Amino acid sequence: MIIAVDGPAASGKGTLASGLARHYRLPHLDTGLLYRAVGLAVAGKEDRPDLEEAAIAAARTLDAAHLADLDALTAAETGVLASKVAVIAEVRAALFDFQRNFALQPDGAVLDGRDIGTKICPDADVKLFIQADSKARMERRAKQLEARGIVVDRYALYHQIEERDARDMLNPHGGFYKADDAHLLDTTLLDIEAALRAAIEIVDRTMALKAGGQTS
Ligand code: C5P
Repeated sequence: MIIAVDGPAASGKGTLASGLARHYRLPHLDTGLLYRAVGLAVAGKEDRPDLEEAAIAAARTLDAAHLADLDALTAAETGVLASKVAVIAEVRAALFDFQRNFALQPDGAVLDGRDIGTKICPDADVKLFIQADSKARMERRAKQLEARGIVVDRYALYHQIEERDARDMLNPHGGFYKADDAHLLDTTLLDIEAALRAAIEIVDRTMALKAGGQTS
């Protein structure tokens, strides 16, 4: 079973995707980490003319070692860098096979990102699109960072998230919208457990309908 989980920055899609992966015993890939690793590889080169070239080279040579430094990868600034390299078509193309191969493992997989249901796995068995209002998303991300001892400027974080959303939505090479057959889950008023229960219910219902030969 392939489960695609998409949604905007800090919508809770990563937490939900890892909860679903645990529940269904499937491998999980946070595809944002791939773009973050490419962003990190070109940190400090944002104004240089060879930014694109460097980002494409980093995407083409990405391996597990680049995904190890979770503190640096999950920093808010790295998210902004990731959204800058994510608009480069060749970067997206270079990361496509890795994501697609991950999805095609024998038992399936859970992938979360922005374009999983639209571009990476348009054939996913279940697609979820996670949504939450901007303030709730900022507050969640702030708490995650604070739990790691990072001092958070909420005003700056809010604007970073908005800036990232705006760039992502205009990405000419992205597919950052809800797929027609994705199930919308708004988590603004849900805690993690309630959101996960709702997501599991959607997956179970969709799979049961499929088994019965109906579409959800
Ligand atoms: O999901 P996360 O916030 O870690 O993603 C960081 C950035 O990477 C996003 O803002 C987006 O620009 C890019 N991204 C993407 N496609 C994906 C996942 C992330 O373009 N599938």
